[in-house]
Amino acid sequence: MSQTQRDTWTTRVGFILAAVGSAVGLGNVWQFPFQTGANGGAAFIVVYLVAVFLIGFPAMLAEFVVGRRAERNPIDAFVRLGHRNWRIVGVLGTISAFWILSFYSVVGGWVIRYILGSARGSYFSGSEAYFGSISAGPEAIFFHAVFMALVIGVVAFGISGGIERSTKLMVPSIVLLLGGLAVWASTLDGGAAGYVYYLSPDVSALRANIWTILPAAVGQAFFTLSLGMGAMITYASYLGRDDSLPADGATIVVLNTLVGLLAGLVVFPILFSLGVEPGSGGLGAAFITLAGAFAQLPGGRILGVAFFVVLLLAALSSAISLLEVVTSYLADNTDVSRPRIAVGLGAAIFALGIPSAFGLSILGWYNAIAYNLLLPLSVLCLLLFVGWVDAGDAVTELRRGTGLSESSALAWLWFVRTIVPLGVLVTLLLGLQTLAV
Ligand code: PFF
Ligand code: NA
Repeated sequence: MSQTQRDTWTTRVGFILAAVGSAVGLGNVWQFPFQTGANGGAAFIVVYLVAVFLIGFPAMLAEFVVGRRAERNPIDAFVRLGHRNWRIVGVLGTISAFWILSFYSVVGGWVIRYILGSARGSYFSGSEAYFGSISAGPEAIFFHAVFMALVIGVVAFGISGGIERSTKLMVPSIVLLLGGLAVWASTLDGGAAGYVYYLSPDVSALRANIWTILPAAVGQAFFTLSLGMGAMITYASYLGRDDSLPADGATIVVLNTLVGLLAGLVVFPILFSLGVEPGSGGLGAAFITLAGAFAQLPGGRILGVAFFVVLLLAALSSAISLLEVVTSYLADNTDVSRPRIAVGLGAAIFALGIPSAFGLSILGWYNAIAYNLLLPLSVLCLLLFVGWVDAGDAVTELRRGTGLSESSALAWLWFVRTIVPLGVLVTLLLGLQTLAV
């Protein structure tokens, strides 16, 4: 193991904002509003909130407990905690991070392209054709490289000097810009119908589709909270301090949820003011629909730039947490300098992502593997470890630095042993069904 002193977060807020930066990503600003729209509006939000707080939150604390106690990258964390064979959990998470970043970065590249395209009005004459031309092929690969270079640039500077410093700027900017856009969207004629669509529950739709909505909500809860890929284990491993994990975790979960809700308050009034029905057509459709809306609105160029900048900041602050997962493994285990590690791994991840810059179907396949297989599997193993193998020490670790009563900590353990794995198992089984189709 390398002898160099491990970096740590400078402040508690620094850790919280970095973790919020990881959590708040394309999943919130992009996926969440459209998924809500497609699944019965506010009724879906209720299911989603239950999933986030009863399943996602306890699982996040499980990752924090492992990370803070071990002060190591996810793979070595289990060895340090005395359970060599459970390294597999960290291996799964690290592979997931590597895999997910490869196509997350392709989408990040589109976003950069859309910032430029908005400024020039490039898509104003045909939103669908524009998306087709930039989302696959040489341009997509080029901007995938640009995005990856930005991610590498941050991670190369380390925890306090790179990630903490940049997320301290990025996260508040996301909230301010998104808030400004929401206020502006509220002034649009006819936008109010968007709030109705978004915020009034369609209970019959919920009832009819509960078995598709439930796993979608649970899967989204894990993805949105950056669970199952070692990101929260890694970030917690740099804590080096005894602040309250439950309090920090709750702050992160609440902020992540609020940003998702705020994004909906931007997206839906815009679409409804133009009479556009938000479809459920996935990632590409969302870009096409929203860019199409900017093309028609007064001030659409500036608005488009503002919106896609939000999206870029959100994507970047998430992507750096993924690169940090893999980087931390080599930084902990070799004497190669961090910048070199970040460049080398970043280049490898870039290469892995190239196929998904050739077409949406490949990207969708990459995504499905991650979402339906890697993530739930990795979370499930982690829960088994924390809930059964390491339960006693985990409970002690959760209480460290808090006034948390033993019974509250045991309640958490009960969740980690029962409700949470059950939720994951259901998603895993239903998700595998999707993969098989
Ligand atoms: N939480 C991010 C989002 O909602 O877009 C995605 C993500 C980032 C997942 C980092 C996992 C991760 F480690
Ligand atoms: Na998120």
